[in-house]
Amino acid sequence: MSDTTPASMPPSATASGPWTPTHGAPYRPAPYRPERIAAEESLERAARLRRRMDERRTVRAFSPDPVPEQVLRDAIACAATAPSGAHQQPWTFVLVKDPEVRRRIREAAEHEEKVSYDGRLGEEWLAALRPLGTDAVKAHMTDAPALIVVFQQRYWLGEDGAKRKHYYVDESVGIAVGMLLTALHLSGLAALIHTPSPMRFLGEVLNRPENEKAFAVIPVGHPAEDCEVPDLVRKSLDQVLVEI
Ligand SMILES: Cc1cc2nc3c(=O)[nH]c(=O)nc-3n(C[C@H](O)[C@H](O)[C@H](O)COP(=O)(O)O)c2cc1C
Repeated sequence: MSDTTPASMPPSATASGPWTPTHGAPYRPAPYRPERIAAEESLERAARLRRRMDERRTVRAFSPDPVPEQVLRDAIACAATAPSGAHQQPWTFVLVKDPEVRRRIREAAEHEEKVSYDGRLGEEWLAALRPLGTDAVKAHMTDAPALIVVFQQRYWLGEDGAKRKHYYVDESVGIAVGMLLTALHLSGLAALIHTPSPMRFLGEVLNRPENEKAFAVIPVGHPAEDCEVPDLVRKSLDQVLVEI
């Protein structure tokens, strides 16, 4: 068992040896009988979760206070349970704690962001960003104690250079990142999904293979004591739900 895996994890999560998506078998059915919870309990859980999730905010001002690293690993493990096209799990999460690597990422991101904010984004995009109060300074990358850099595996790449197509990569990684943000929030941590554009520098700084494309940088930690967030309005349920 790896020293980063909690003792209570199921054996499949710790098995060593070559990984296959279905134990090497083309199709192997397994019984699935999750405990059914009473409607009353279900309603209570759903309402509680809805309130908790409504409290989540994107944080851009972080305290340098450390966070338990196992919480980050557990959140990443939660994200990695996400559904994915053909169960290809086309994601890599790079957990960056090293301050020097975070400094290099910040420097490269700020270089790109300066060009973007100075006009590359175009007036329509800049106007959309204005209510958020963001700019090209990305102190969160060095203030937060950790960054989770998410990569999409655009295709499978074997050790011998063989390639195999991956399906629904954008959708799969988007869902996994949503689960990551949820796990971090429910574990009591704050995060920002940051998408510097272009992001090619992330693969270079972190030395990722050619089949991986950066998806987002996620600084994680606790909000700074004087943290402020834009006073945003979320659409009401009526505005996003159509019932037929
Ligand atoms: C795909 C994606 C990319 C984002 N990129 C950035 C970014 O580059 N910089 C930033 O400050 N916020 C970024 N955000 C955060 C959004 O601005 C934020 O989620 C939105 O304003 C709503 O605020 P909330 O998360 O507090 O509800 C991004 C969010 C998503 C989903």
